[in-house]
Amino acid sequence: MDKAPHMEHDRGTWGSNFGFLMAAVGSAVGLGNIWGFPYKMGSKGGFAFLVIYLLLVVFVGVVVMLGELTIGRKTGLGAVGAYAKLSKKYKWVGYLGILSAFTLLAFYNVLGGLVMRYMFGFILEILGVDGFSGAEGGFFDYILFDYSGMIFFHVLFIVCNVVIVMGGIQGGIEKFCTVAMPALFFMLLFVIIYVAFQPGAGQGYKDMLTPDLKPISTFGGFVDVLKTAAGQMFFSLSLGMGAIISYGSYLDKKENLQKNSLIIPACDTLIAVMAACAVLPACAAFGMEYNQGPGLLFNTMQNVFLSMGSFGSFVGFMFYFLVFIAAVTSSISLFEAIVTWRIDVNREKGKKTNRTTIMCVAAVCSLIVGLPVALDALGSPDAAVKAPYLLLGMTPEQLDAGQVPMAIDAWLDFFDVISEGIFMPLGALVMSVLIGWKWKTKNLVVPECEQSGHKFWGYGFFDFCFKFITPLGMLVVLGGQIYDFFIKALLA
Ligand code: PFF
Repeated sequence: MDKAPHMEHDRGTWGSNFGFLMAAVGSAVGLGNIWGFPYKMGSKGGFAFLVIYLLLVVFVGVVVMLGELTIGRKTGLGAVGAYAKLSKKYKWVGYLGILSAFTLLAFYNVLGGLVMRYMFGFILEILGVDGFSGAEGGFFDYILFDYSGMIFFHVLFIVCNVVIVMGGIQGGIEKFCTVAMPALFFMLLFVIIYVAFQPGAGQGYKDMLTPDLKPISTFGGFVDVLKTAAGQMFFSLSLGMGAIISYGSYLDKKENLQKNSLIIPACDTLIAVMAACAVLPACAAFGMEYNQGPGLLFNTMQNVFLSMGSFGSFVGFMFYFLVFIAAVTSSISLFEAIVTWRIDVNREKGKKTNRTTIMCVAAVCSLIVGLPVALDALGSPDAAVKAPYLLLGMTPEQLDAGQVPMAIDAWLDFFDVISEGIFMPLGALVMSVLIGWKWKTKNLVVPECEQSGHKFWGYGFFDFCFKFITPLGMLVVLGGQIYDFFIKALLA
């Protein structure tokens, strides 16, 4: 077969712009939207949070998105190759992205596995088998210490990723996301409508949408909401770590980059607000607190659906199924950032692309890195694997007194803090400064965007943002997260 040698060295491309959009929106829409956004909005200012979040999406999110798509498409390479091609000196920014991908996967895969376990739990519940042993809140505590179960579902989630990414850009990622993302949208819509009819749900909308800017009326309050919203926006749009650069590198030159860089954040924000419209009213209807961490997605939502009777179990299954889709379409983009990097290296050396082998190696590595997250029961002192603060000689009493930095209170937070708190904002900060000051918007971004024959619009806006607003925004995120995750507890 004479097609084979060519195929073996081919990187692949997206079949259509719609397919690319579904994959990129799939990367953006993830646990950050369905879990992070509702609870941060619920606990950090409601409406005021939403206003600041939207401003940040426009002034920082869209801009960084355009920067990453440009870098990917112009070079036709993943993050490491792309930075190296633009300036050898900045190849390390690409490696930073790869490091972020691994640290993010370490906890994302474990959470994805937990979501699958809840999804299957609701299936058993629908079938009348006791799916949730220790229900009414006990289930979550039970599974955290069920180590073989934790590892089983961790592995199962990773296997789902392997199957999709092995299929390649068009035959795997695009094919899956083109079906899964519209399905996610309609299932979420269904859950929102169902929740809206629950008595007491109205309080949730009120808390969310009453125009109250009091939470940001003091300087301290403003900074607090700003740094939370900025960190959330950034994580939610999958920026600063090479996933969007990789996806952009498979995009045809005829596609309109500027339009795409608006559509992706718009869809991501829409789904985040929709998720808040499902989760917050559901919690309000059952008198549950909004401001819990992992407890909100697992404990609280499980109890909410179980208290809705037998149809509630069906809606519960649908909810966890859509969260699973959100999680897996995000984690495949993290894996793809790693896979693209190695494929580029192989092609440069004239070797076969070897997508399958690379993906299997990446999967095993991410499984190993994620093991402490799966086995430390969210930092419980009684768990099989000790949380970082215990290993460092701190005590549970110090944890209760708020003296343990969040960065080390559990392995999940440890990996979250280094990726979301440091590597990702640092990556985007450097990228923005490089585009704004070194490579220049007019020399790099404008010509690449105009490849498609579309005139570049808003030059002044984008250039100003690359040079000033985005770096400033990233410094706020970086400073805010370093304070929250490392320093705050030390001052307690
Ligand atoms: N955007 C994803 C979420 O909101 O959960 C998380 C994420 C995925 C971040 C992929 C970065 C990334 F490259």
